[in-house]
Amino acid sequence: MATARPGIITSLEMCGIVKRFPGVLANDGVDFDVRAGEVHALLGENGAGKSTLMKILYGLYQPDAGEILLNGRPLNIASPAQAIRLGIGMIHQHFMLIPPLTVAENVIIGLPSSRRIFVDTDRAARRISELADAYGLQVDPRAFVWQLAVGEQQRVEIIKALYRGADLLILDEPTAVLTPQEVDELFATLRQMKQNGHALIFITHKLHEVMAISDRVTVLRDGRVVGRVATQDTDEAALARMMVGRDVIRTWEKPAITPGQVLLSVEDLEAQSDKGTPALKRVSLEVREGEIVGIAGVSGNGQRELAEAITGLRPVTGGRVIIADRDVTNCSPAEVLAAGLSFIPEGRMTMGVIKEFSVWENAILETHAQPPLARGMFLDFKRIADHTRRLIGDYEVKTPSQETPVKNLSGGNIQKLILARELSRAPKVLVAAQPTRGVDVGATEYIHRRLIEQRSQGTATLLISEDLDEIMALSDRIAVMYEGQIMGVVRGDEASPEQLGLLMAGVRS
Ligand SMILES: Nc1ncnc2c1ncn2[C@@H]1O[C@H](COP(=O)(O)OP(=O)(O)OP(=O)(O)O)[C@@H](O)[C@H]1O
Ligand SMILES: [Mg+2]
Repeated sequence: MATARPGIITSLEMCGIVKRFPGVLANDGVDFDVRAGEVHALLGENGAGKSTLMKILYGLYQPDAGEILLNGRPLNIASPAQAIRLGIGMIHQHFMLIPPLTVAENVIIGLPSSRRIFVDTDRAARRISELADAYGLQVDPRAFVWQLAVGEQQRVEIIKALYRGADLLILDEPTAVLTPQEVDELFATLRQMKQNGHALIFITHKLHEVMAISDRVTVLRDGRVVGRVATQDTDEAALARMMVGRDVIRTWEKPAITPGQVLLSVEDLEAQSDKGTPALKRVSLEVREGEIVGIAGVSGNGQRELAEAITGLRPVTGGRVIIADRDVTNCSPAEVLAAGLSFIPEGRMTMGVIKEFSVWENAILETHAQPPLARGMFLDFKRIADHTRRLIGDYEVKTPSQETPVKNLSGGNIQKLILARELSRAPKVLVAAQPTRGVDVGATEYIHRRLIEQRSQGTATLLISEDLDEIMALSDRIAVMYEGQIMGVVRGDEASPEQLGLLMAGVRS
């Protein structure tokens, strides 16, 4: 291994960490530790202070108080460069790779050796392949990052950290963007790392993942540690209670509704993927007033393209999209919105918000030109403030104020703000892609309740989700997509995971 390091990490402790941001006490005297050969899960509601604590450990933020001990020795981590030298790596909530470069170039970029004129990319590629084999991380070092699916990009991030000699790896919500299959693969890699003596810190909102992969769990609430347990001594319900401070409801009674007229109709829809290959092959489906239709499937089987083709974000190459009797095929997104559609995009962090804008500005994106928020040419600031306050309150969006730039909110709170905005529009048709990805269990409960309320009010909902539990809990009918086609449609109350799993694998029953 080329990277020189002071030593191997056997233990890392954070003691009494305090971190303040304007108007927020993000970490309030947090103690946390991790040892070689264990996975320590860090759990907590959106905005509890998990990412902040980890950014302090990675040298991105300086704590206002507290101490970090590495192998028992106190030290100051001034920058990520220093963290890396100490053997600490971090996989961020949002990836930081450079799309036009290859995998190998991304792995070596920033290393001292890469500043030479001739970089030995062949040697780097060989080392990448070795690491990939040792840890079960399938990647092609010569592929360009823009060509990779998110799961592959994450593997590159992990290889990049290993290449730099990370003994301790921080993974901030690594599974939020992965398919269930990819999660299994990631867990196999993490188990291998654990066996090789790495220390791992794992952040997730999915309690079954905590149970499956961690040895210990620490729960944060409002910047403070509210619990620490050995995983074998706890269960999902207890963890949820610790996080939220109350019991969490996970199954729903849906009121019986007779679906009304067809509000969303997709007929023989065809569209292409980013790579120009057929992504949708004559997809037809209908969603009626007061109905939730779930789209299940392994990601990459056309779900994203379907959502984008319906919402005007992707050219339709064949077939039609009809919203409330209006043909909106190949209309602009603005026209589709005007026809009565709300869209919760999967890539919310890039498509759903303008990060430099304030909370209130983001709360009215898309709706700002319409009454009641505008009167004639003027924005009605009083109403906007009331509207924003209601969204923040209903969805428990944690923010110091309405003026705060969205980029200062925690990941999950940005998600909640977008969901609040889109669901508050009382749409005729709602296309919701992965609506609870990255949000905590309490917010998941709230979002599910809202989707059911909207259904009672007559919204026709197309729910695209990789979370089979979510699909089965909410959907009146479930359509399974496989390779750009609908493999089958089953009634929500009759579907079984086994049956859906077969359809998802392309086996027609
Ligand atoms: N750079 C920043 N400037 C101002 N406030 C910040 C900044 N980063 C985080 N905060 C605030 O600190 C608090 C904790 O945020 P953090 O990102 O650590 O939460 P989290 O537990 O990771 O949440 P999530 O599950 O949503 O990712 C939040 O209230 C957030 O708004
Ligand atoms: Mg976070």
